[in-house]
Amino acid sequence: MNEMNKADIGLIGLAVMGENLVMNMESKGFRVAVYNRHTDRVFKFMEGRGAGKNLIGCHSLEEMVDSLKSPRKVFMMVKAGAPVDELIEQLVPLLSEGDIIIDGGNSFFEDTARRVSYCESKGLLYIGTGVSGGEEGALKGPSLMPGGSPAAWNEVKPILQGICAKVEDGSPCCDWVGEGGAGHFVKMVHNGIEYGDMQLICEAYQLMRCALGMSNEEMCQVFRSWNKTELDSYLIEISGDILAYKDENGESVVDCILDTAGQKGTGKWTAISALNEGIPLTLIGEAVFARCLSAQKEERLKAEALYGHEIPEFTGDKTAFIECIRKALYASKIISYAQGYALMRSAAKEYGWNLNYGGIALMWRGGCIIRSVFLGKIKEAYDKNPQLDNLLMDDYFCGVIKSLLPAWRETVAYAVKVGVPTPAFSAALSYFDGYTTGRLPANLLQAQRDYFGAHTYERVDRPRGEFFHTNWTGCGGDTASGTYNA
Ligand code: 6PG
Repeated sequence: MNEMNKADIGLIGLAVMGENLVMNMESKGFRVAVYNRHTDRVFKFMEGRGAGKNLIGCHSLEEMVDSLKSPRKVFMMVKAGAPVDELIEQLVPLLSEGDIIIDGGNSFFEDTARRVSYCESKGLLYIGTGVSGGEEGALKGPSLMPGGSPAAWNEVKPILQGICAKVEDGSPCCDWVGEGGAGHFVKMVHNGIEYGDMQLICEAYQLMRCALGMSNEEMCQVFRSWNKTELDSYLIEISGDILAYKDENGESVVDCILDTAGQKGTGKWTAISALNEGIPLTLIGEAVFARCLSAQKEERLKAEALYGHEIPEFTGDKTAFIECIRKALYASKIISYAQGYALMRSAAKEYGWNLNYGGIALMWRGGCIIRSVFLGKIKEAYDKNPQLDNLLMDDYFCGVIKSLLPAWRETVAYAVKVGVPTPAFSAALSYFDGYTTGRLPANLLQAQRDYFGAHTYERVDRPRGEFFHTNWTGCGGDTASGTYNA
């Protein structure tokens, strides 16, 4: 094929996200070569949505690789895990030095780091990019979080920044994140935060539905009004739409959906990574566990029959309490992002990434599932102080949290009193109380460790790093065990 007619990029994997990304790229003026393992899908696509478009339908990987301009850019939109490695193995012999493989799936960041090294060892460049925004985002402008081989960035930048979402001032919701698995790490944290945001909205819904006895129509109006406040976000917007949605028989679809949540694993990875980093990511952890508990439907029904679960009627000022719930949601959301950012800071140190935290907030500001007005405030906080230890230390958020605190406590206290489960609201408040407590009971905990296992402790009246052991019972020896921390 003559070089002029060659495609700017190739995309493998014509499932929902892949197809929509192709349409997006084509609409921005890029010529795209498309391929799918089951080639009937290529035929169908080229005759359907792809008909008359600036695309090249390919029926083998060889054909696709041959139809790409150099350096070749191959965008994989296939299932995370083994299929990615298998595809890389097939591509490596077909590609030439300096060609670029891009993985746009929800791959685990350590896999991506390994693939970057592997492809670089073969003379290729590799990018693992977060792609967020679902079907609509893929088509109209997703949020993209690319990381991997830095030399690949300038080559793919015009395409990725061309197709991504833009914020009001035109800034692209896509920028270089960092080396190795940095892009997929940031996407993983995005998904963890997505789990947290969704859980918080669900807790607000449960409180309104069960404690206040509100109808779907009423709750829809509440979400719509909240969407005009600091909570303005995609997930609040769609929650309002969902509550308003009725089927052909006039029934609320949301009421027909079984209350057992699924999960593909990115929230769990975020929580595991927080445990590995030693970062309290309590809200996202609770959001993952809430999905697990929801999945135990049969057991929950038996337990409800055993213990009963009557929520007493609310007798207070309903409008005022709805506002308390809104404030609790907002405060908890700030905690969730504070925790998520703390995790990214810790991982950045461990993996040597120079993450731009304000830039990440901007990437999430539009296009992605967690997009919200609030991310603009996070960007401002990190632009002001890129070294910010914790979002809670920022002046603006400090003022906001102080103003929300009474309502937040009232909401959690009421939920606990009447028995509406609010694990994320409560975890957020407990974290806040722990984070703002200068003296925690860990002195007693250290004493217990030293008592039963001679694990030693540091003293308030001695410099940090000096360790002591007490022979608590008079029967133990003087030998202390090691002082390492996991
Ligand atoms: C996004 C979403 C997307 C996917 C989730 C679903 O950013 O567009 O996060 O990646 O829909 O992974 O995750 P669960 O199935 O785990 O809820």
